[in-house]
Amino acid sequence: MTKEITFSPREIIVSKTDLSGKITYANRVFMRVCNYPESALLGEPHRVIRHPDMPRGVFYGMWKTLKAQEEFFGFVKNSTYDGNYYWVFANVTPDYEGQKPVGYYSVRRVAPKEALSDVNALYQKMRDIEKKCDKASAPKTSWAWLLDYCEQNKHVSYDAFVLNHYQQYR
Ligand SMILES: Cc1cc2nc3c(=O)[nH]c(=O)nc-3n(C[C@H](O)[C@H](O)[C@H](O)COP(=O)(O)O)c2cc1C
Repeated sequence: MTKEITFSPREIIVSKTDLSGKITYANRVFMRVCNYPESALLGEPHRVIRHPDMPRGVFYGMWKTLKAQEEFFGFVKNSTYDGNYYWVFANVTPDYEGQKPVGYYSVRRVAPKEALSDVNALYQKMRDIEKKCDKASAPKTSWAWLLDYCEQNKHVSYDAFVLNHYQQYR
């Protein structure tokens, strides 16, 4: 049985990557929660902690946003080294040295439990959409569905939807 790993609302999970998404820094809270030794994180692609329940479309949206030099917000379910999982609310931003883009960093806080039933339902729907598409178009299609869902059903942008959803239950 896999179990949910939690952390304190006072803590933040931080990591940094290079421009290709390889991990260059992980804070202590990150290592404790995901239960990875530092040596198994540094230099590895960030997808090492990807949980199979995460729709590919969320990461498509994350990278699209980052490549446009904008910050991304989103709920993310991650895997731990020993096969458990944890949920976060992530803020991922481009990282600069002066004017030069050098990578990205992510700051994550506890995802409020009450927020997750809606998020789980949306991610389930995205996974269903992805299963019906060919592999190449799946992430783009499910991301477009999520943006459209926020605009049509919630009458707000994706950013406003996730930020409201996080703040509402925090
Ligand atoms: C700063 C940063 C933080 C990231 N954090 C995570 C994370 O916590 N979990 C995750 O699955 N992917 C994270 N990603 C996205 C991964 O790089 C990757 O796109 C994702 O796991 C999906 O894998 P794929 O791109 O091979 O499909 C992060 C990317 C960046 C740039």
